[in-house]
Amino acid sequence: MPNPTVVGFSGNFTRPSKTRGFVEQVVKDIARQHGLSASTYDVEDLGPSLGQAKWARDLDEQARAILDKVINADVLVAGSPTYKGSYTGLFKHFFDLIDPAALRGKPVVLLATGGGERHALIVEHQLRPLFGFFEALALSTAVYATDKDFADGVLRSEPILKRVAQAVGEVGLVLANRSGASVAAE
Ligand SMILES: Cc1cc2nc3c(=O)[nH]c(=O)nc-3n(C[C@H](O)[C@H](O)[C@H](O)COP(=O)(O)O)c2cc1C
Repeated sequence: MPNPTVVGFSGNFTRPSKTRGFVEQVVKDIARQHGLSASTYDVEDLGPSLGQAKWARDLDEQARAILDKVINADVLVAGSPTYKGSYTGLFKHFFDLIDPAALRGKPVVLLATGGGERHALIVEHQLRPLFGFFEALALSTAVYATDKDFADGVLRSEPILKRVAQAVGEVGLVLANRSGASVAAE
């Protein structure tokens, strides 16, 4: 059986990106602690077919492969920079191409970055309802970081790192619960 996967998807479309680095850091922490295979993508990785696509079938091969990885992930880490108080338009467009039932029950860690504290509730008021629509299992601890929490593009703030550790721990609880449930069903 293939190793379970944790996949990160970040809504940035410029690089270098604090958000992509943040998503990747959390993905790697989850992979290390819970023994999952890790990969991270951003809007830039999807290439130009994303903006043109009205349906998933319109994506080119590279973008379609990323969409399939997100859909098939055992754990998803979804993050976006805050643009005008919300996730980026292309982040939403990517998720608009996904079948409403495709993420049902999937554990999702919600992350966002912003220029300041003012929009910290983007994780609760924008990201959480989006994954609520998909009936995904958005974990309780969502994490928001501002420009000042990073040094050289790497998350350094102790309080934010603590919240990351809490979110990574919650992933472990869900995974343990699921493997317990499948053992019980055998
Ligand atoms: C078009 C645009 C809109 C933005 N809007 C907001 C905003 O509403 N609130 C906020 O806190 N930061 C805002 N920012 C700042 C970015 O969210 C912030 O710098 C973010 O961490 C950048 O992430 P990145 O390095 O991954 O691109 C905006 C930046 C841009 C370019």
